[in-house]
Amino acid sequence: MNMENKQSMLRDGALDGKVIVVTGGGTGLGRSMAEAFLRLGAHVCITSRKMDVLETAAKEMEKATGGKVLPVACDVRDWKAVDHLVEEVTREFGQVDGLVNNAAGNFISPTERLSGKAFETIIGIVLMGTVNCTLAFGKHWIAKGEKNKTVLNITTTYAWTGSGYVVPSACAKAGVLALTRSLAVEWAKYGIRTNAIAPGPFPTKGAWQRLLPGELVEKFDMAKRVPLGRVGEHHELTDLASYLISPYSSYVNGEVVTIDGGEWLKGAGQFNMLEMVEPGMWDSIERMVRGTKGS
Ligand code: HXC
Ligand code: NAP
Repeated sequence: MNMENKQSMLRDGALDGKVIVVTGGGTGLGRSMAEAFLRLGAHVCITSRKMDVLETAAKEMEKATGGKVLPVACDVRDWKAVDHLVEEVTREFGQVDGLVNNAAGNFISPTERLSGKAFETIIGIVLMGTVNCTLAFGKHWIAKGEKNKTVLNITTTYAWTGSGYVVPSACAKAGVLALTRSLAVEWAKYGIRTNAIAPGPFPTKGAWQRLLPGELVEKFDMAKRVPLGRVGEHHELTDLASYLISPYSSYVNGEVVTIDGGEWLKGAGQFNMLEMVEPGMWDSIERMVRGTKGS
C-alpha cells in the first residue's frame, strides 16, 4: 500500500506536538498507523521484539515523512521491559500523549491441538501485553497529573462473536474489549480516553501467513466474506486511527469502531444467505410466499 498518494482525512499538522507509542509498530497495520501519525506531525515510538525490524522501519519512515521515530525493543509480555519503554520514550520526547496497543500474536489451529502454553502465549501477547502497556503509561500519566491522553486498542470483530480455530486470540481480544470499556469510565476522571478499533480483513504479511497459509489464501478468499466485496486498504484504517488518537475525537470515549465492510454482520444476519438467490428467482419466490395467504 502506498500512503504517499493518499491524503489524510485530517488536516496537515493535526497531530503536531503529539507523541504516540505504537506497539507492534514495525510491521503491518502498526507500521501504517505510525507512518500516518508521522505525516500528521506527531513524533512516534515504535516497539516490538525485533530491533532490526524496528530500526529499518524507523529509518524508512523518517525518510518518507521527515518525522522523528524512536525504535525501542520491548516484549509487551514483560512488565519490566514495558516499564523501561516508558522511561525510554519519556527521556527522548519528554511526554507521551497516545498509546496504540496493536501488538498481537495469532495462528489458526483446532483448539484440541493446542497446549496450555499456546494459550498462554497468545493471551500473554494480546491481553497481558495490552494490560501491561496500558497500566504502565496510565500510572505514569496519573502520577504526573497529565491529562488529554488517549489509549487506542486494536481488537477484532470476533471479540464479541467468538471464533473457532483462533480461540486463544478470541479470548484475549474479548478481554481487550472489556478493558477498553471498563477504563473508559474509570480513568475518564484522569483525562484518559480509551477507545478501540475492530478491523475486518486488512492484508498484512504477519496475519496472512498465520491465518491463511499456503493454498488457504485462494480457498478462503476474504473479500468474498465482505458485503462491500473487497478487503480493507490500510489508509482506511489509518484515517480512523488518526481521528481516534487525535483531539478531534475528544468526546469519543469507550467506543469500539468496527471497520470491516460489513463482514461480521453478514455472518450474523440469519437470512443474509439469500444473497445467493438468483435475482430472476424472486418473482416465483414472491408468488409462493403470497400464495400462502390465508392458509
Ligand atoms: C499449534 C502452536 C502453533 C501452531 C505455536 N504453537 N504455533 N500450536 N499450532 N501453529 C505453540 C507452540 O508449540 C508453543 O507451545 C506455544 O504455542 C508458543 O510458541 P512459540 O513459537 O514458542 O512462541 P513465540 O516464539 O512467542 O511466537 C509467538 C507466535 C508467533 C504467536 C506463535 O506466530 C508470533 O511471533 N507471532 C507474532 C505476529 C503475529 O502473530 N501476527 C498476526 C496477528 S494477526 P508448546 O506447548 O509446544 O511449548 C491477528 C488478526 C486477527 O491477530 C483477525 C484477522 C481477521
Ligand atoms: P503483524 O504485522 O504480525 O503485527 C503484529 C505485531 O506485533 C508485529 O510487529 C510483532 O512484532 C508484534 N509483536 C508480536 N508479539 C509481540 C510481543 N510479545 N511484544 C511486542 N510486540 C509483539 O499483524 P497485523 O495484521 O498488522 O496486526 C496488527 C493488529 O491488527 C493486531 O492487533 C491484530 O490482531 C489486528 N487485526 C488485524 C487484522 C488483519 O486483517 N490484518 C484484522 C483484525 C485485527 P515482533 O514479532 O517483532 O515482536
